[in-house]
Amino acid sequence: MAKGIGTLVIFGAGGDLAKRLLLPGLGQLVDSGRNDDFALLGVGQDTMSTSAWRSRVEKSFASSGATGARARALAAKSEYLTADVTNRDDLDMILSTCTGTPAFYFALPPRVTIAACKALARVDLPDGTVFGLEKPFGTDLASAAALNRQLVKIIPENRIHRVDHFLGKSTVLNLLGLRFANRILEPVWNSDNIDRVEIVFDEQLGLEGRAGYYDRAGALVDMIQSHLLLVMALVAMEPPSSIDAEDLRGAMAQALRATNVRGGDAAASSRRARYTAGTVKGRKLPSYIREPGVDAKNRTETLAEVTFTIDNWRWAGVPFTLRSGKALSTPRKEIVVTFKDVPHLPTGFTGKPGPAALRISLSPDDISLDLNINGQGDPFTIDRVVLSTEFGAGELEPYGEVLSGLLTNDPTLSVRADEIEECWRIVAPVLAAWKKDAVKLDTYPAGSDGPKGWRRR
Ligand code: BG6
Repeated sequence: MAKGIGTLVIFGAGGDLAKRLLLPGLGQLVDSGRNDDFALLGVGQDTMSTSAWRSRVEKSFASSGATGARARALAAKSEYLTADVTNRDDLDMILSTCTGTPAFYFALPPRVTIAACKALARVDLPDGTVFGLEKPFGTDLASAAALNRQLVKIIPENRIHRVDHFLGKSTVLNLLGLRFANRILEPVWNSDNIDRVEIVFDEQLGLEGRAGYYDRAGALVDMIQSHLLLVMALVAMEPPSSIDAEDLRGAMAQALRATNVRGGDAAASSRRARYTAGTVKGRKLPSYIREPGVDAKNRTETLAEVTFTIDNWRWAGVPFTLRSGKALSTPRKEIVVTFKDVPHLPTGFTGKPGPAALRISLSPDDISLDLNINGQGDPFTIDRVVLSTEFGAGELEPYGEVLSGLLTNDPTLSVRADEIEECWRIVAPVLAAWKKDAVKLDTYPAGSDGPKGWRRR
């Protein structure tokens, strides 16, 4: 296999992430033939027989349709070890089981990841060892920076893959082609022509039994601090000279460095809310605070919205509003770039459907351009038409894409240390304002569009 990863080791192999996302993505990757020449080793604290593990792997592979000969062969040869990854002797034992260069994937809670990294610093790791780290990466700027410092003592930055599966979504990646392979967009991609940008990820899903993690994170950290700020960076960055890891991530980091809460006023630029009991798509959900494992004292939001500005020549003054919420009536997952109105509409026209907008939808994956033209009937009435097309599906699910990067040690689709720290810096004033209750925690019934009175900004 390319660049010699011999064994993919999944820490936290018995967990939900491995079962629902990592292994299905891995199965697809292997079946695609892009990477299949490595061994798979699952590591967890619970005891599991080899046959139980292999059947778990096979089932997870099958859940993404990965039932081909390659995927079945990997599952049939995979091994499982019961071990404590925060213990040096156990780590030595894991290493002795690996063939070739290992890639360690930490599908673990942050606290355990930090302890495991401390133990790994005392272990002799083979040259070329690669790490894959799941979000959440730290819990604030200071802890993320401390973890970054700890990691580079163990292996170099270019072998650390901070995974954000949004960067493996084919439509997110399509932003690159759309922006930089079409001459018509770049000249208007600036504050002279663009009025505002919204990046929205509204889900119908509720808590889904994830209180242990989500009740401490909330919508702001779960979605905006990580995924949506990175998507924003791809929308806003300067054209990179190549899409290799350093050029692409450098351009994203530069956009993030220029990003701040609008007007420096976190209270005025953010809103938060939490769902109460309701019905989503025929499914009854209890009030968030009645969900098992939730502590109402945490005052966790399930819907967050923050407006940022990117304070550079290209974007000065353009609001970028990022929003994400759970248990909402309709899934709305899109990037909307709204253009400024024309400077002058010739008198004599009637009708005014509003300025043109470009919509890039993350689910379903499509793109549409809302344009104004002379409508049917009276030729002097302006109407709205929509030009749209679907994006072809990517070959792999997002986790397959990011695992491909990990196994070939190509960090292009992973998040660089400075990007992660910038994302924490950007949201820090909002977290502080919310902590001191400078922003009201609104409510909305599950299955609604959000709190009454939250008009679109
Ligand atoms: C995860 C969040 O990272 O992304 C979840 O923790 C969210 O809360 C999910 O539901 C959304 O991504 P996708 O790709 O599963 O729709």
